[in-house]
Amino acid sequence: MKCIHIVLLLCFHLSLCKLTSTSDTSQEDLVDKKCLMNKYTHLSCNKVFCQPWQRCIEGTCVCKLPYQCPKNGTSVCSTNGKNYPTYCKQKSLECIRPESKFLHNGTCRGKGSFNVSLKYKNKDSEGIVEVKLVDQDKKTFICKSTWSITEANVACRDLGFQQGAFDTHGRFYITDELHINSADCVHVRCRGLETTLAECTFTKRRTKGYQGLAGVVCYTQDTAPPEKESFQCVNGKYILQKKACDGVNDCGDLSDELCCKECRSGSFRCKSGVCIPNQYKCNGEVDCITGDDEVNCEDFATVAQEETEMLTADMDAERKQIKSFLPKLSCGIKNSSHARRKRVVGGKPAGVGDLPWQVAIKDGKEIKCGGIYIGGCWILTAAHCVRVSKARHYQVWTSLVDWIRPNSELLVETVNKVIIHEKYNGTTYENDIALLEMKKFSNHKECELPNSIPACVPWSPYLFQPNDKCIVSGWGREKDNQKVYSLRWGEVNLIGNCSKFYSNRYFEKEMECAGTKDGSIDACKGDSGGPLVCMDINNVSYVWGIVSWGENCGEPEFPGVYTKVANYFDWISYHVGRALISQHNI
Ligand SMILES: *[C@@H]1O[C@H](CO)[C@@H](O)[C@H](O)[C@H]1NC(C)=O
Ligand SMILES: *[C@@H]1O[C@H](CO)[C@@H](O)[C@H](O)[C@H]1NC(C)=O
Ligand SMILES: *[C@@H]1O[C@H](CO)[C@@H](O)[C@H](O)[C@H]1NC(C)=O
Ligand SMILES: *[C@@H]1O[C@H](CO)[C@@H](O)[C@H](O)[C@H]1NC(C)=O
Ligand SMILES: *[C@@H]1O[C@H](CO)[C@@H](O)[C@H](O)[C@H]1NC(C)=O
Ligand SMILES: *[C@@H]1O[C@H](CO)[C@@H](O)[C@H](O)[C@H]1NC(C)=O
Ligand SMILES: *[C@@H]1O[C@H](CO)[C@@H](O)[C@H](O)[C@H]1NC(C)=O
Repeated sequence: MKCIHIVLLLCFHLSLCKLTSTSDTSQEDLVDKKCLMNKYTHLSCNKVFCQPWQRCIEGTCVCKLPYQCPKNGTSVCSTNGKNYPTYCKQKSLECIRPESKFLHNGTCRGKGSFNVSLKYKNKDSEGIVEVKLVDQDKKTFICKSTWSITEANVACRDLGFQQGAFDTHGRFYITDELHINSADCVHVRCRGLETTLAECTFTKRRTKGYQGLAGVVCYTQDTAPPEKESFQCVNGKYILQKKACDGVNDCGDLSDELCCKECRSGSFRCKSGVCIPNQYKCNGEVDCITGDDEVNCEDFATVAQEETEMLTADMDAERKQIKSFLPKLSCGIKNSSHARRKRVVGGKPAGVGDLPWQVAIKDGKEIKCGGIYIGGCWILTAAHCVRVSKARHYQVWTSLVDWIRPNSELLVETVNKVIIHEKYNGTTYENDIALLEMKKFSNHKECELPNSIPACVPWSPYLFQPNDKCIVSGWGREKDNQKVYSLRWGEVNLIGNCSKFYSNRYFEKEMECAGTKDGSIDACKGDSGGPLVCMDINNVSYVWGIVSWGENCGEPEFPGVYTKVANYFDWISYHVGRALISQHNI
């Protein structure tokens, strides 16, 4: 205890303290150990976006089928000489059958395809990287200056070493150095997740003089793990601890960058706990699932490109183009005409359009519960609010503000179907989630709700974090049990772990807690089924929770408990259809 005191005092007096404490001593503290137990990789869509030729199913990126690719795009000749109508179709087929990449038996001629091998080898797993255009005999080398572990991992996988590279350096004896004109070397740039170098972009730059040639030491069964301070990747490879959380995919499966409490210099930390290279910040492509790498970008000027000759198609541009063809979902963005009124805080009455996803569920004469419009004809609510057998008794009131004096925007919808989560437990309130399908008007194809806007459905539990501010709303009772007739809303903070308040009744994976320090803002009886909505950095609103339960409304030691909607993304999409709620990787 004494030591801690001393450190604290020093920290208050020395501004250098932060610098020293983030250097060598606290290496391991950058990594979130609990998160590591999930064994996240580049295929974990709770943490990262899938490739555009993949889709996210139950937290894992899986290959799209070719027909699930966007129709748009230009035809391509693949590295193995086959023609495909679009790059996405090619990649989806290669994703399904990776071995097809190596069948060089097609007939079309694309722009260069490189084949990799090693020269000046010490062993089969290490040497200088040599590449050759598949249909030519001339061999060439790769320039050292732009060669990094990112490319080295791909080269090793290409050579059959599944765990990628151990190092980009080695002692190689170039025996006929005089014959190598290193100014002829080519540059290669990979994203790091490719399995062959042929999937990367090759360029040639006009540079003079000796450049040095890229070499590689691939990781094999015999590679000894670093003695101390090592980090074990999900693919089994060991890397130096100091290479974790530095924005560089050293592991090759990205597992060293996905569970980070902090990121080392040279990298940017996404709110979701992922480190990305600094050059991905403000590069025009969203890399963080939380979107925070592409905001406040005014100061970032685009770096002028060196004069380069493209030797292959620009694979990165192709990938980005597919993304631009993917359908975009519109949700969670309020009508700008209402945006100005947003800054009210604390149990305030709402105006028309302030909460365009909020609905009221009327059962007989009274409003018993709230609900959330998520698009199409679908309303999300709490299971304890509804019963399957009573579907035709319910009414969904949209755009309602005051139910004693209804506003003109109010629309009353009837209910076609009630779906309650099959594992809902009325005793414990586990899986307290249900869907209502509204009836379409006869002769209408869709539900038409001109004044409603769907809230986005979160697909990852990492989109929001404890202490984020979110909004709870409803027609529920006041603290003193007084009835409320007009829609009210208030700001609450997400609370990390509610076990300390509700010990054995709180289920971390399925439930979320939120409240204020003094308990002044809370959900109460009658708010059930209504939304806890959180807004991301781009002001897009997500339905993060459904008001579920809590004790003694408005007391600090009894925060409100919500159904954690992100945990039910697949359940919801199964019932309403993926296209309705999938913002990414449909
Ligand atoms: C290439 O080889 C594969 C597998 O042997 C075969 O299925 C395919 O038809 C071949 N394609 C051409 C164009 O020969
Ligand atoms: C690629 O290189 C490997 C090793 O040098 C060789 O066995 C293979 O035939 C080459 N493939 C093509 C298409 O040139
Ligand atoms: C896709 O192609 C269609 C028809 O050629 C065109 O109307 C549409 O704008 C294209 N979509 C995108 C995103 O480029
Ligand atoms: C609900 O949970 C309680 C406590 O775990 C259990 O005893 C009960 O059987 C569960 N009920 C249902 C319907 O699953
Ligand atoms: C958005 O506001 C405009 C102008 O007030 C209105 O015409 C339009 O219907 C509104 N749209 C929605 C979805 O509320
Ligand atoms: C939450 O608290 C419970 C009990 O105190 C503990 O078992 C659990 O690991 C905690 N979870 C987190 C994420 O800290
Ligand atoms: C989000 O809304 C706030 C407050 O209205 C505004 O200051 C900010 O610029 C908005 N951010 C974006 C990315 O639109």
